[in-house]
Amino acid sequence: MTNKRIRKAVFPVAGLGTRFLPATKTVPKEMLPIIDRPLIQYAVDEAIEAGCDTLVFVTNRYKHAVADYFDKAYELEQKLERAGKTEQLELVRHVLPEGVRAVFVTQAEALGLGHAVLCAKEIVGDEPFAVLLPDDLIWNRGPGALKQMADAAQASGASEIAVQDVPPESTGSYGIVATEAFKGREGRIHGIVEKPAPAEAPSNLAVVGRYVLSPRIFQQLEATTPGAGGEIQLTDAIAALLKEEAVNAYRFQGTRFDCGTHIGLIEATIRYALDHEKLSDPAREMMQRALGELGVRDLE
Ligand code: UTP
Repeated sequence: MTNKRIRKAVFPVAGLGTRFLPATKTVPKEMLPIIDRPLIQYAVDEAIEAGCDTLVFVTNRYKHAVADYFDKAYELEQKLERAGKTEQLELVRHVLPEGVRAVFVTQAEALGLGHAVLCAKEIVGDEPFAVLLPDDLIWNRGPGALKQMADAAQASGASEIAVQDVPPESTGSYGIVATEAFKGREGRIHGIVEKPAPAEAPSNLAVVGRYVLSPRIFQQLEATTPGAGGEIQLTDAIAALLKEEAVNAYRFQGTRFDCGTHIGLIEATIRYALDHEKLSDPAREMMQRALGELGVRDLE
């Protein structure tokens, strides 16, 4: 790759979101809120913090809500302005800061995450770029996960893939990497497999939804034939890439919530509420009350 700083971030949001049906019949998974902001907003803020000024959303024809969300809401803004609701007006206006542009490309058919990333090829061009999966929400008190990775990529000149340690019995839910010994937060990857059974897994280091990738990945994606489930897998293209260029696993600092699952979304909501300036105390009381009431009922 090169030591060039990333400027473009790709958000593949064209999946079907079947695990959140029936809600996802009309509400894209990425628009589900944690408190008052949709998942996509958390990912966008993380990309902007990392230095990205071009955000590429790979959507499908049913996901107007994502484009609408980043569009200007004239009527709403006028009403808030007339009513003197300046605080809310600022919230609506600053979904995207000035100088950041949103670009939308369509993935006509849900042919997999790898295929969705390939749809962004023309816009990304020949420079390193980020991929963020908004349903992986990463919380950190310090710099966001992507900022940490963008800094690391700029220093190493290598692709960087976010990983976290998972319990050995969970390897079947993730891409799993085999690496050389870690130096600090980075370890060079020499193998990657998609969703291995625990007995076949080369480690318990799982890939999560943040990547800084070399543009060379596009050639690898073009050469990738459909794998598991008839989908073009990003994992297969990364497996090909690491034979040609350095690809590092990056153990980021932060807590990741898998908001693509029911329990992950609940956990994220609880954690953000407990950490919230105004909601922390009432949320704590409400949880204690709920646990107390359920406890009493369990005894009856
Ligand atoms: P998931 O595996 O979470 O699939 O995709 P999904 O369709 O979103 O959700 P479920 O499993 O049916 O509930 C991982 C990421 O890849 C994107 C998804 O939007 C999500 O961000 N994706 C997946 C695409 O953009 N296109 C695809 O063809 C497949």
